[in-house]
Amino acid sequence: MRISVIGCGYLGAVHAACMAKLGHEVVGIDIDERRILELSASRAPFYEPGLDELLKDVQETGRLSFSTDVSAAAGSTVHFICVGTPQKKGENGADLRHVDAAMEALLPNVRPSDLVVGKSTVPVGTASRLADLLSEYQPDAHLVWNPEFLREGHAVEDTLSPDRLVYGVEEGSEDHAAVTILDEVYSAPLANGTPRLVTDHPTAELVKAAANSFLATKISFINAMAEVCEASGADVTRLADAIGMDDRIGRKFLNAGIGFGGGCLPKDIRAFMARAGELGADQALTFLREVDSINMRRRTRVVELTRELCGGSLLGQHITVLGAAFKPESDDVRDSPALSIAAQLQLQGAVVTVTDPKALQNAEKRFPELQYEPDLDTAMAGADTLLLLTEWQQYKDLDPFEVSERVNGLRMLDGRNVLDAAKWRASGWQYRGLGRP
Ligand code: UDX
Repeated sequence: MRISVIGCGYLGAVHAACMAKLGHEVVGIDIDERRILELSASRAPFYEPGLDELLKDVQETGRLSFSTDVSAAAGSTVHFICVGTPQKKGENGADLRHVDAAMEALLPNVRPSDLVVGKSTVPVGTASRLADLLSEYQPDAHLVWNPEFLREGHAVEDTLSPDRLVYGVEEGSEDHAAVTILDEVYSAPLANGTPRLVTDHPTAELVKAAANSFLATKISFINAMAEVCEASGADVTRLADAIGMDDRIGRKFLNAGIGFGGGCLPKDIRAFMARAGELGADQALTFLREVDSINMRRRTRVVELTRELCGGSLLGQHITVLGAAFKPESDDVRDSPALSIAAQLQLQGAVVTVTDPKALQNAEKRFPELQYEPDLDTAMAGADTLLLLTEWQQYKDLDPFEVSERVNGLRMLDGRNVLDAAKWRASGWQYRGLGRP
């Protein structure tokens, strides 16, 4: 099948490559020339495990091309909209400018019976509005909302073998012509047993908002428990292990630490609250405000704990922050708690060095005032205190004996609770976790 993918960021670039991998003929379209040049040369414009290899692999088959010209979408049967929906400046709501611009540019290239398939995360009601727009231009074309649930760092496997596929079609009818076409697009994962749900437009849009809100709530729940553990001398990691053994609760997404960040969870829960307010259902989501505050409080807590570890003052303390990305296996620093903590410490007088295996270039653009060092050993040399804020494997593997020879002070704040506290303490370190005695 011929497919166009509009928007080649974290979502669209992976989607385009994966659709070509599934055997389709795909054109990826983006207005960013540099991004398109990189992708055309089989280089991912961001770090995502396996994506470079996949791009190379599918481009050799001739099934994947890239363009900055939206008219390259003409002739495709399915047009995926994969552009970003960032938070509006100074407001909680989602900024839909890119979605609207993509739709407007795409419309002249849509033929009767084509599908326009939205994958971006949008406020409920957007799909119906776009469907009306589409039917004005091309009454026989269909608009589907097909939310994407991929996680950065696992984006390729999540796209090729998703947990589920959700098709939001008009009226939510299983017999809708669009269902047959999308089933053909996803025939490989469907044949492998991926469940597929057909819903109406608003339900499909809400599935995504609800899923991300649930995940954010789960993380803030355990971080709230971490606060209580800190006040009572209990250990949140053992608490999470114990409650996670109940199947109804589950251990995943119960890792207490510095909280969630990234380009999705924080802005998605805020946009969801804003949209609920517009719909007159704001009371239903007031708990998300608490989820957001618990999350932001973790950052302040880490700054305070670091000050305690440093003997009461941050002034002139040499602090090395291990990790800048919002999570490991990603170079994404959007709303990264690690970077926001590093910047706070620096503002309060500490001399901060940040290291990360992949995210330093992006970090430098966002916080140019911080000092960055790509080499881990050099970054740690002479540090008074170490903060592990993104749980990259190489940081989890650090040997406290070896590290003690490089640093100036034996103080470790483990912001992700991933180190063996007993081992670090036995090596003479003052170890602090979050929500742990
Ligand atoms: C998320 C959703 O998981 C994905 O389904 C959706 O499509 C996009 O948003 P992503 O932003 O890639 O994906 O990251 P995710 O793995 O969900 O982690 C989000 C944040 O939560 C990270 O900062 C991570 O460090 C943090 N986290 C996660 C915790 O603090 N504790 C946990 O137990 C799990």
